[in-house]
Amino acid sequence: MKPLLEHIANAVNTPFFLYHESMIKSRIEDVLNVFSTVDFQPTFAVKANANPFLLSVFHAYGIGADFISRGEFEASRAGGIPTSKMTWNGNVKSEDDMLFFSKQGIQNVNIDSIGELQKWGHLKKNHNVPLPSLFLRINPSIEVSTHPYIKTGMKQHKFGISLHDIDTCLRIAQEVGLTLQGFHIHIGSQITDSDSFEKAYSTISKLSRQYGFTNINIGGGWGIPYFDKKQLDLQQMKSFVTSLFSHFRIWCEMGRYLIGEAGWYIVRACENRESEVETMCITDGGMNHLLRPSLYKAHHSFSSTDPIPQKKSVRIMGRLCETGDILVPSTVQNCPKEGSLIAIHQSGAYGFSMANHYNGFPLPAEVFLSQNGEWTIIRKAESNTCFLDQCDSGERYDITH
Ligand SMILES: Cc1ncc(COP(=O)(O)O)c(C=O)c1O
Repeated sequence: MKPLLEHIANAVNTPFFLYHESMIKSRIEDVLNVFSTVDFQPTFAVKANANPFLLSVFHAYGIGADFISRGEFEASRAGGIPTSKMTWNGNVKSEDDMLFFSKQGIQNVNIDSIGELQKWGHLKKNHNVPLPSLFLRINPSIEVSTHPYIKTGMKQHKFGISLHDIDTCLRIAQEVGLTLQGFHIHIGSQITDSDSFEKAYSTISKLSRQYGFTNINIGGGWGIPYFDKKQLDLQQMKSFVTSLFSHFRIWCEMGRYLIGEAGWYIVRACENRESEVETMCITDGGMNHLLRPSLYKAHHSFSSTDPIPQKKSVRIMGRLCETGDILVPSTVQNCPKEGSLIAIHQSGAYGFSMANHYNGFPLPAEVFLSQNGEWTIIRKAESNTCFLDQCDSGERYDITH
């Protein structure tokens, strides 16, 4: 692998993201297998990774897109995904966007609140446009074990309609002439405990029977093994999926599970600084490209092309002016030699899609490694001054008017 990585690094410069097709394929197969006994309509949650080339890979496997914004919608279209295979999620939706996406013919939308339901009623009354299929996102009040910032299914969270408000929503829908197609649920992200999904899937299947819906959107949330190696029990998942969902059409929006382990963030070790307790390996990457360790205290695993045996722990850091600019927290592992390449694993999901221009560094390149060993640049690195592009439009406004 070292010669290949060096070869790519010479062509695109470090840092960069590298995705490998074989892992994407294997994860798609895992998911399809869990749902093989039910009527299954999968979409990929574009928020996890919006590269159009990768979206086209999912499209080739019959997987649609779950998008949040016009940007993610356009990325999905650029990946060749037809609007008839797109679901729109969003915490607050503008009427302008509602009209736009309806005109584009998207397939489904998940309604997040009573206020939003009323807006759809308003749109129907005022515009003669076919609406997408409407799903009601419910908040099931289920606690899950994951980072607090990515739990979404409890009372204190801003997402979805409380179970007590379902009847009110159905009454409003009837009053404004809307037909709902089913319920949607998404209890959080990076969940590796299958019991939480069993609870959520049972709740939504029971409610769907009660209200006579045949469509269910189960969201995403499947966790992957980071440094802790915890993973979902797919056998168990398959068993309750089969028993709970055999009479339903199941939609899903899976992000991390499909792309997380298929991506590496590749950086170069620039300087090893020794403290009494550990070696700080400073790289040319940073939290501007891989935010998860700083934002969620995520612990990714890593490997390097030239590891030096050592007994101390090593911390992989970025080059930004932030103490929290950590790529891998202290780990007892061989230390990357200065000048070597380091692969930060599990970086395919919420890596590039959360990257930013902090400290004025450009966004990095993305590279795809196909199963036959060919590699393709699927996004070029930005120029050093790209973040200035929209500044100084030259327009001046007079505040007295
Ligand atoms: C509504 C919704 N669906 C799907 C996803 C994808 O989640 P994951 O990447 O954990 O599968 C998210 C992520 O936050 C989400 O908010």
